[in-house]
Amino acid sequence: MSTNYDVLLEQAQAITAGEPDLIANLSNLSALVYHELADVNWVGFYLLRAPELLVLGPFQGKVACLRIPFSRGVCGAAARSQKTQLVHDVHEFADHIACDAASNSEVVVPIIVNGQVVAVFDLDSPSIGRFSQADADGLSRLGRFIESLNWQQLC
Ligand code: SME
Repeated sequence: MSTNYDVLLEQAQAITAGEPDLIANLSNLSALVYHELADVNWVGFYLLRAPELLVLGPFQGKVACLRIPFSRGVCGAAARSQKTQLVHDVHEFADHIACDAASNSEVVVPIIVNGQVVAVFDLDSPSIGRFSQADADGLSRLGRFIESLNWQQLC
């Protein structure tokens, strides 16, 4: 069950190398992480599309909520705090937004460029407590790499 985040980071670098298109890269990164991590049911991005408003971006998994303001949900908490959110049991997180009823635990990594949140990277699992602190740390490292992509295309 444990993920080698050094290898995942190398894979992320390899599949994005030489490709300048942000959406193409986020799409493949969603697919990479969805298929490399065990026991996940949703992996993807919500992108900053207006002040304090996240809109669904590239993802893998079931149909999801379209719009998440910074004031709502685990994604909003990540965006507001600019800190990775590790949620052991989403049913104990008062403001959790249930897109897929199968989701029971979650990690959300804010993607921060020039001090501003430009997106969040969201992972859901059907298992309570699926994500450890090591997962949150590894995914945050991946987030730092994702911040190096071509985010000026989002404007
Ligand atoms: N659970 C998230 C909403 C997005 S879905 O998990 C894909 C939240 O509470 O912000």
